[in-house]
Amino acid sequence: MAKQKTLPKDEFFKRIRALGLALTYDDVRLKTGYSEIPPDDVNTETRFSRNVPLKIPIVSAAMDTVTEYKMAIEMAKLGGLGIIHRSLTPEEQAYNVARVKNHLNGKTGLIEKPICVYEDETIEDIMQRKKERDYPFDSFPVLNKQGKLTGIITGNDFAFYEESVYSKLKAKDVMTKELETAKKGTTFEDAYTIMRKLKKKHLPLINEQGELVGLYSFKDLKHIISGKTRKHNLDNNGHLRVGAAIGVREDALARIPLLLKEQVDVVVIDTAHADSKKVIDTLAQIKKKYPKLDVVVGNISDAKSAERLILAGADGIKVGQGPGAICTTRIIAGIGMPQVTAIYECCQVAANYGVPVCADGGLRFSGDITIAIGAGANSVMMGNMLAGTDEAPGQVVFKDGRSWKEYRGMGSLGAMEASQSSRERYSQKDTGKTEIIPEGIEGRVPYKGKVELVIIQYVGGLKRGMGYVGAATIKELREKADFIRLSSAGQAESHPHDVEITREAPNYSVKK
Ligand code: XMP
Repeated sequence: MAKQKTLPKDEFFKRIRALGLALTYDDVRLKTGYSEIPPDDVNTETRFSRNVPLKIPIVSAAMDTVTEYKMAIEMAKLGGLGIIHRSLTPEEQAYNVARVKNHLNGKTGLIEKPICVYEDETIEDIMQRKKERDYPFDSFPVLNKQGKLTGIITGNDFAFYEESVYSKLKAKDVMTKELETAKKGTTFEDAYTIMRKLKKKHLPLINEQGELVGLYSFKDLKHIISGKTRKHNLDNNGHLRVGAAIGVREDALARIPLLLKEQVDVVVIDTAHADSKKVIDTLAQIKKKYPKLDVVVGNISDAKSAERLILAGADGIKVGQGPGAICTTRIIAGIGMPQVTAIYECCQVAANYGVPVCADGGLRFSGDITIAIGAGANSVMMGNMLAGTDEAPGQVVFKDGRSWKEYRGMGSLGAMEASQSSRERYSQKDTGKTEIIPEGIEGRVPYKGKVELVIIQYVGGLKRGMGYVGAATIKELREKADFIRLSSAGQAESHPHDVEITREAPNYSVKK
């Protein structure tokens, strides 16, 4: 354990503590500092856990209205991370992880496990499967009964038929049979040259037995060459990083082997009260059985809890008890610590051990990210700020003149009725449905469109904050930050005032 040096904010929090007070986002702002760094030049790289890096410090919450594979894919493409929720069965959750892992190869471009179809399948069946599984492409290598490659179908192959005609046709009736293939082991560079020369959008790789062993897509290769993949959060094999939430005891042990099979990068023991025997025992058990697997544990809000979890083997800590937009824990149970103080206290301990902290819940504006990191966090986790996007599960609904998406707490009545995992998160696994004590609510949030656009605003706000503080990196923001306490007049002054807003800004809304 290496004791951290004294930081500028320590004096502020010491004085607040002496008053017996704890603070949250709206109570504070960061002081500005001398700056030599233009906001656009700051570096936002950080870590979610000991061995899982992030290119932007934002992680999407393990909630059933926030993170399944679509959100996790987009979050990792944007440089962050998604944690697949655990109200799914272990098999469904592992499938979600596999979808993220198989989405692209940002290093070699090679699709190692292409989704194939069989010669005798009808186009109708293939299209039905594409719809059910939500495949974002319509090109499929075609195999015969022996598993040998015999052709490829692309959207082009049936675009010229009427649906009533093509749907009854079989893959072998419409597929392109004159295939250009390459040998197993063909490199990215060679594949790119071959595809350009032949003007082919797909290049299947086959082994000596004629079996399909991979597929190059020209679109993916161009994506890599354009440099766009440099922003992605990729593992060492070039796949998008992804995490998955697990419970305690048998839930954890049932999920981990399936998740590891799909190459999950990190698991998050996801409970409302992590400083408890069952969580600490589960953590120790996992670390003993799977020493190489990064395990983040949450949630807590106290320094002593952080120390107990770190000593039990945690590779990351998640802080936040009751700050979330949909949480009622503090009201129902009467416990909890305002979030900025909770982050500071836990980070004081975690920094001594070099264990990253994720500030989970309660963020409303991009400035709150700067504050959370200024208080010591390495990353933030968001539910509410991401739930209204296209990539969050659920449909857009139109009501009261605007579009919305559903957002509910994992401790809400609906989530707890629907899943035993949700009940377990709140220590009510064996509770009958009529005796559930909810710790969250069900609601809706304004529809926000593509997650990429909201993340641009959130990271943009953080970068401006880093510029004002004079911090070129996340580490510098954590070290240089100093705080002032806001009065209620100061808080009112901070928001727009004395004006009727006539055009909603993409990063500021007063609508609840
Ligand atoms: P935000 O504010 O980003 O918070 O919406 C998301 C975080 O809230 C936690 N969470 C809950 N906490 N009751 C709670 O007390 C709940 O029903 C509930 N559901 C989620 C969780 O940590 C999430 O990341």
